[in-house]
Amino acid sequence: MRNKTVIVTGGSNGMGKFMAKRFVEEGANVLITGRTEETLSTAKQEIEISGSGNVEYFVMDVRKPDQVANMVELSISKFGQIDHLINNAAGNFISPAEKLSVNGWNSVIDIVLNGTFYCSKEVGNYWINNEWKGSIINIVATYAWNAGAGVIHSAAAKAGVLSMTRTLAVEWGTKYGIRVNAIAPGPIERTGGAEKLFLSEEAAQRTLDSVPLHRLGKPEEIAGVAHFLCSDNAGYINGEVITMDGGQWLNKHPF
Ligand code: HXC
Repeated sequence: MRNKTVIVTGGSNGMGKFMAKRFVEEGANVLITGRTEETLSTAKQEIEISGSGNVEYFVMDVRKPDQVANMVELSISKFGQIDHLINNAAGNFISPAEKLSVNGWNSVIDIVLNGTFYCSKEVGNYWINNEWKGSIINIVATYAWNAGAGVIHSAAAKAGVLSMTRTLAVEWGTKYGIRVNAIAPGPIERTGGAEKLFLSEEAAQRTLDSVPLHRLGKPEEIAGVAHFLCSDNAGYINGEVITMDGGQWLNKHPF
């Protein structure tokens, strides 16, 4: 991926950071974004020793379209181009649907669904105006097509993002050769999602029991799929979602 540029939103921690590391290892230039300067700056130092690629960071909130526009400008001014966008920024918390406040609902929908659209539209327009065949990876979850009991806001938002993935794959694939795909990770160690799922020992055991492979996924494994989807080997994959969950979502009748 030498001379390629990748934007990873929410790239200062969890899966985002591991994807950024992998891209830098492969020689790419990476722009990570997030809301907290301190975390981004620490992550930059950690990521840039992974390989020969360069790392820059940009403090922003994907909910703010003007900041998203600045993100694209910064990437162009630092690296001269954008080849891949990883819509990884997310917000989530566990709440029974009947207790979820309007603000709680809006805040997750705004980060996950609206944020993904703002970033895709801004980067997509840059590609369209420059006749550049870039690609987008959206991070979803298996509850985008399954039930997301306890996380109705995130489930509804991820279902929207999955629909956006397929819609843009057709709309922008047809007209501009832009590919749009998604990754649906299961429970992945060393991520914010795992922290939320592993609040008690009992909850942790329940999660492990639900995974046929009896282990959590590794963020490095997700990063490997992201790298593959950005590579020329995946040049004919468009509108697809790759699930990496150890078989968890299929496991309806464990015995
Ligand atoms: C109930 C909650 C809550 C909680 C927030 N809210 N946390 N309600 N239980 N645990 C409510 C608040 O009370 C408020 O509503 C509203 O949500 C907005 O909260 P703010 O803190 O003001 O919002 P904001 O600062 O914008 O933060 C957004 C956030 C936060 C989503 C709430 O958690 C966040 O920034 N998270 C980013 C990191 C993250 O979540 N990563 C995990 C992604 S993992 P009121 O009505 O009080 O005003 C993932 C995989 C799935 O997606 C894993 C399964 C769990």
